[in-house]
Amino acid sequence: MLKRQTIDSKDYRNAMARYAGHVQIATTAHDGKRRGVTVTAACSVSDNPGTLLVCLNHANPHNEIFAESGIFALNTLMASHEHLAVAFSGLDHLSVEDRFAQAEWDTITTGAPALIGAAAVFDCRLIDAKTVATHTILIGEVTGLRTGPAGPALLYMDRGYHSV
Ligand SMILES: Cc1cc2nc3c(=O)[nH]c(=O)nc-3n(C[C@H](O)[C@H](O)[C@H](O)COP(=O)(O)O)c2cc1C
Repeated sequence: MLKRQTIDSKDYRNAMARYAGHVQIATTAHDGKRRGVTVTAACSVSDNPGTLLVCLNHANPHNEIFAESGIFALNTLMASHEHLAVAFSGLDHLSVEDRFAQAEWDTITTGAPALIGAAAVFDCRLIDAKTVATHTILIGEVTGLRTGPAGPALLYMDRGYHSV
């Protein structure tokens, strides 16, 4: 028989703090509005066709624009982008435009903001979405790709930023 512990969400978060995640900014644009969210809950699903996923908190109504637009880009950060990770996590309480003003952006295929100088940009069209608990898993087919300079990556672990 399957044994089951009671998993307290604080204990879960403490255990997850041991897990190193590459910091990325998920971006989208729709009806003249842009949004970017600092994320670590993102990973590859398949290389044929190029497919990835990102998990966004659906309790935040500002994240609805990702489903509305049907597009997103995953901008993989370098260590030098820590200030962007902070800005797009909402810690500074900056306006959306002030967050985007901290870097240069263009677009690749979908129109989602693509960070110039990112380690990589995965430009995606949304092909599926599934809501699980507090988050919605967005699955994107990669329609455009750009790799930037090689160099130290920005990771998040033990509730802090690290360079690898
Ligand atoms: C290192 C780090 C990783 C994060 N990862 C995620 C994530 O994977 N998914 C998510 O929905 N929010 C994640 N967040 C929280 C969002 O960045 C934050 O709630 C959001 O940007 C707040 O945006 P707002 O101020 O515009 O509402 C993360 C925050 C940090 C600092």
